[in-house]
Amino acid sequence: MKTKISGFLFRFIQQQNMALTGLPLATFFLLLSASYLQIAGAEVESLTALNLNSPILKKSIAQQVNENPEAGWEAAINPRFSNYTVKQFKRLLGAKQTPKNVLGSVPVISHPKSLKLPVNFDARTAWSQCSTIGRILDQGHCGSCWAFGAVESLSDRFCIHFDVNISLSVNDLLACCGFLCGSGCDGGYPLYAWRYLVHHGVVTEECDPYFDQTGCSHPGCEPAYRTPKCVKKCVSGNQLWKKSKHFSVSAYKVNSNPNDIMAEVYKNGPVEVAFTVYEDFAHYKSGVYKHVTGYVLGGHAVKLIGWGTTDDGVDYWLLANQWNREWGDDGYFKIRRGTNECGIEEEVTAGLPSTKNFVREVIDMDDGAAVSF
Ligand SMILES: *[C@@H]1O[C@H](CO)[C@@H](O)[C@H](O)[C@H]1NC(C)=O
Ligand SMILES: *[C@@H]1O[C@H](CO)[C@@H](O)[C@H](O)[C@H]1NC(C)=O
Repeated sequence: MKTKISGFLFRFIQQQNMALTGLPLATFFLLLSASYLQIAGAEVESLTALNLNSPILKKSIAQQVNENPEAGWEAAINPRFSNYTVKQFKRLLGAKQTPKNVLGSVPVISHPKSLKLPVNFDARTAWSQCSTIGRILDQGHCGSCWAFGAVESLSDRFCIHFDVNISLSVNDLLACCGFLCGSGCDGGYPLYAWRYLVHHGVVTEECDPYFDQTGCSHPGCEPAYRTPKCVKKCVSGNQLWKKSKHFSVSAYKVNSNPNDIMAEVYKNGPVEVAFTVYEDFAHYKSGVYKHVTGYVLGGHAVKLIGWGTTDDGVDYWLLANQWNREWGDDGYFKIRRGTNECGIEEEVTAGLPSTKNFVREVIDMDDGAAVSF
């Protein structure tokens, strides 16, 4: 069975424009709920056919993609996963779908149609002073993608809006959001991640570094780490947890129309996106990905940083994954744009950086000099 989970969900969204300052006007979702069941159904069926202990990377899949002239992308045995089983790989796919009952209360951003957008856009060059945008990280053996996408985007947005380099801590969100965000290394909700950033803020990476940074970021590492404990203390004694917090002012979804997603990235910086991962995606090497073969394995969240069109006229999104540089195109990938490939246009979340706490930090740094934004 081949299941295509895309498209239909967001056609039914009725939304209104809202000011970027975050004043939500009425937003309504009329939701057809088949999507979630369809994922669950497909997964059950795929698990009976897939041996969870077999290698995730299969020559037969790479061959099937590379011999398909319609594929538009190249497959390879990526070193990052050369020793991974299907089960180990699945654990990385930790993006859960936003529960239906909260969707009604989530602001949905759209942008004026009149905004002129470039045909190609790459946040790395648009804001070349912001070094976090082009970072490729590694989530290790933890299904923390939902946390990476949010924290990475917010770090970038601090630089874009306030002209500072700040690396924020995935570990804080992963360990301290608790059941509100889902289940830590066993997966979480991107939207709740952003809400945590609004209500609790997030400390710097320096204060609370990622737990799986060394040792377990390479293939074959077992056992998978458990969710780290929430310690609420900076590793360095002279930094204060509370003072190190950086906040988002908002947690919103971006309307799934490609133009709204582009405008959001163009105006405010990278966003977090979630999409459905099939077996073939583990084999992505270069080109513009579209699903060609293999079963559904789960939901994954990453950071969307730009878009463009190939010489052959294929529209794509440009994304930074957190599977290190030994996966994909030096850690990045492209996926079809405008066709909601694998649901990539359905779950776009973001927020804007807040001056809360931050203004004080700048004042402290400037020894009391007045700073306003
Ligand atoms: C995969 O595992 C084998 C055997 O345990 C090891 O020799 C090899 O170096 C591993 N490959 C990678 C890329 O880690
Ligand atoms: C951020 O850091 C990079 C590398 O250290 C530097 O080149 C850049 O100017 C910094 N940007 C800002 C906004 O301070």
